[in-house]
Amino acid sequence: MARRKYVVGNWKMNGLSASIAEAQAIFAEAQSHASVDVAICPPFTLVGALAAAVPGKAIGGQDCHSAASGAFTGSVAAPMLADVGATVVIVGHSERREAFGESDDDVRAKAEAGLAAGLSVILCVGEPRAIRESGGAIGHVLAQIAGSVPDAFDPQRLAIAYEPIWAIGTGLVPTLADVAAMHGAIRGALTARFGGAAQDMRILYGGSVNGDNAAELLGADDVDGALVGGASLTAAKFVPIIAAADALAG
Ligand code: PGA
Repeated sequence: MARRKYVVGNWKMNGLSASIAEAQAIFAEAQSHASVDVAICPPFTLVGALAAAVPGKAIGGQDCHSAASGAFTGSVAAPMLADVGATVVIVGHSERREAFGESDDDVRAKAEAGLAAGLSVILCVGEPRAIRESGGAIGHVLAQIAGSVPDAFDPQRLAIAYEPIWAIGTGLVPTLADVAAMHGAIRGALTARFGGAAQDMRILYGGSVNGDNAAELLGADDVDGALVGGASLTAAKFVPIIAAADALAG
């Protein structure tokens, strides 16, 4: 079965109650692009309200703790996200790996927690600029995949997001050849480990995706969608990316 395109908004630490109307507009406009799966991951404070405001739509967290409950001040557990209506969780975003010191082991435990809570997982990987420049990007990312992807899961419920760190929020994007080479290498590593199930896993590209470059990036081999930060905050910027994905879906 062909993989459906998947476009996910990562609002990061942006959004107050007033942003709920923007999310409603995004999902309303996305209805005419029915070949695309769309999700929005707002800050924790908005997950429940947003899930209630757009019933049946995919709302997610941007992180979760690996434990289901406990003495972890400030953290949010995957069952808590599910409890307020989330169906998705992002784990291993580079901003968490870098700023919060999350290791591959941590990311894998978080992915397992999300899956156990019934959520779909978007697991992020990506190389820093120095590693891209030294020619080690593919090796770096495949090591992250080996270390952070769980051993057993429904392949339709775990997507990989390849996000070169130097492309996030910078307006820089890799060449199409580099994107295709990386996504092909990720698919190859997943196939070596999981066999034919890897064909059902979606591999998203993230890093400075916008309405102008989405068609090209999402058209590259083995690119099944996009994880979008800055351009996901408004319908005016996000819907053209969804439309570009829709136009590519055979
Ligand atoms: P960006 O962020 O689209 O603003 O580059 C992407 C991300 O970090 O997920």
